[in-house]
Amino acid sequence: MPMSSISGNDSYPYPVARIGIIGGGQLGRMMVKAAKRIGCTCVVLDPLRNSPAGQVSGHQIVGDYHDPGALRELAAASDVVTFDIEDIDTATLIELSRAGHAIFPCPGLLADIQDKLRQKDVLAEAGIPSAEYVAADAPTAEAFAAFGYPLVQKARRGGYDGRGVQIMHTPADFARHLPVPSLIERFIPAEKELAVMVARGQDGQTRCYPPVEMCFRKGENILDMLLVPARVPEQTAAAARRLAIETVEALAGVGIFGIEMFLTADGSLLVNEVAPRTHNSGHYTIEACVTDQFEQHLRAITGLPLGAPDLLTPAAMINLLGEPGYNGRPVIRGLRAALAIPGVSVHLYGKATTRAHRKMGHVTVLDQDVERAREKAERVRALIRIIGEEKE
Ligand SMILES: Nc1ncnc2c1ncn2[C@@H]1O[C@H](COP(=O)(O)OP(=O)(O)OP(=O)(O)O)[C@@H](O)[C@H]1O
Ligand SMILES: [Mg+2]
Repeated sequence: MPMSSISGNDSYPYPVARIGIIGGGQLGRMMVKAAKRIGCTCVVLDPLRNSPAGQVSGHQIVGDYHDPGALRELAAASDVVTFDIEDIDTATLIELSRAGHAIFPCPGLLADIQDKLRQKDVLAEAGIPSAEYVAADAPTAEAFAAFGYPLVQKARRGGYDGRGVQIMHTPADFARHLPVPSLIERFIPAEKELAVMVARGQDGQTRCYPPVEMCFRKGENILDMLLVPARVPEQTAAAARRLAIETVEALAGVGIFGIEMFLTADGSLLVNEVAPRTHNSGHYTIEACVTDQFEQHLRAITGLPLGAPDLLTPAAMINLLGEPGYNGRPVIRGLRAALAIPGVSVHLYGKATTRAHRKMGHVTVLDQDVERAREKAERVRALIRIIGEEKE
């Protein structure tokens, strides 16, 4: 790999590294932008021609994440391979890694994390606190009742944005169960949900971002707003950072990781899940931190020194989701009014079509006071609507 062979004398050819990104969504798109800034080029693998990341990288392989041929082609065109999604064929990645291709985070770790049951097992073995659970490979009413309600069923694979998760309060809720291999775990009556981003370099150094408070709409497991710094006591924030670092160290992860946690009424912290990649809760770092999560990830996987994760200003973030009832080419309503509010940054992901609840963009609001940032973000949410040219 050219980078490491010459990094000893601190001299790099351009491009500094050719980054292969599996997944061409918004995370990949923002990673490509950061990569260009630090002198890297990117090639993106995504089945969708002209994907959000492919549009910016200018080089895309159109192919499936499970296609060994496409993954090999990507590896051949890259110095380092990484990903913006988790649902990838890890067998091929493990084979490529054994053949000497640099892939971070390492494919074996991705294989553990992409299966929610294996992920829980790994966390439990490392002594990381998380909700008590059992495997439910063939979900039955008897097994659920024996475990006890309230409980949360989670599909072992393929869930995201809460789609593989069922919260069940009573045995009657079993009617809504997911008929797929799963785990069931205790329902945690959380005071708050926090997310902490941690980067870990190839040399084992870590950098931890401030805990973010994830606010959910009541009764739904769809994220409503993110606030940073989280409105928690200083000692809770410090404990959350320690737990996040401990988790990434236990996994020996290289790259950036999003650690989602529950904070309970008695002040204890439980890890909900680990994302082995940049994370929605880290988007605010683009405007609000010294080094954003995308550049930080690239520094980690290319062996460059990690950057300062310090928070420059409090921030609030909202996702811009496709409004239900519309499809087709997106139409952005209220953009001008939103941008007229000081401290508002709008990110649109370049998706060709909208649909109900699809992540089409996000908005970060900076303000010296986190409550004011939250209020401005509420105003922006009321202003911006992503509708589509086609009504359902
Ligand atoms: N054990 C639990 N107790 C209470 N609530 C839970 C539990 N597990 C999950 N939830 C709720 O469901 C949400 C989604 O769960 P989880 O993060 O595990 O799934 P996901 O599909 O990976 O979601 P995402 O992609 O949005 O992170 C959590 O943020 C939380 O609000
Ligand atoms: Mg989650």
